[in-house]
Amino acid sequence: MQRLDMKKVPRHIAIIMDGNGRWAKQNALKRIDGHRKGAEAVRSVVRACRAMGVNYLTLYAFSVENWSRPAAEVDALMVLLEKFLIEELPDMLKNDIRFTVIGNVEALPGNVRTILSDTIAKTGQCSSMTLVLALSYGGRDEIVNAVRNILVEGTSGRLSPGEVTKEVFSRYLYTRDIPDPDLLIRTSGEYRLSNFLLWQSAYTELYFVKTLWPDFSEKELEDIIIDYQGRERRFGLTSDQIR
Ligand code: FPP
Repeated sequence: MQRLDMKKVPRHIAIIMDGNGRWAKQNALKRIDGHRKGAEAVRSVVRACRAMGVNYLTLYAFSVENWSRPAAEVDALMVLLEKFLIEELPDMLKNDIRFTVIGNVEALPGNVRTILSDTIAKTGQCSSMTLVLALSYGGRDEIVNAVRNILVEGTSGRLSPGEVTKEVFSRYLYTRDIPDPDLLIRTSGEYRLSNFLLWQSAYTELYFVKTLWPDFSEKELEDIIIDYQGRERRFGLTSDQIR
């Protein structure tokens, strides 16, 4: 059995936390109970990543598409998010975790936005790990938004078409200060990206596991990282070129 190599831990892990609803159903509980249990899994994965020395952890907590869920579920998710941020702040500060958000934050309710800005401000000086929550996030919206902002710069003469490189384009995304994910995990046995980090995951190693998110454990995360450490990332080059 391979052991975790602490020197080759992925710098950025992104997770599509899926399966809360199915977990609730299997346990004869309400969907929101699945989300509650899912929030506990979030806490343990944040701790595990911090302990392993992961620099960035991005969690897909609420997509733009999730707004179309029943209002009661959306409201319950917002309450859960507020509770999570309030309860986790002392731990984030103690463990030197910076908090940030990607997505259309303006679409979130005012009280959630206030807690988000407060958490971002209070953890702004922390530097051991960055926890990124994707909220009201959609990869295509992010790209369209970047194009709009680039056009604005172009129209005002601050940017010419020839200056729009991949690097420049990346600076117009929500993730402008965040490196691309090395490893992307999706739970619950679904094999798709569902509009998550479309631009950023061009060379990301993908892992799809059957476990429903509330059951996802630190042990399973460690096993995935061990497997990731055995993969060869070639970025389009040959094996010989990267050795
Ligand atoms: C997907 O499960 C999960 C979500 C849409 C929300 C994710 C939220 C959490 C993990 C809990 C709250 C998060 C934080 C950061 C406090 P699903 O509802 O689509 O599950 P299903 O496909 O089985 O129905």
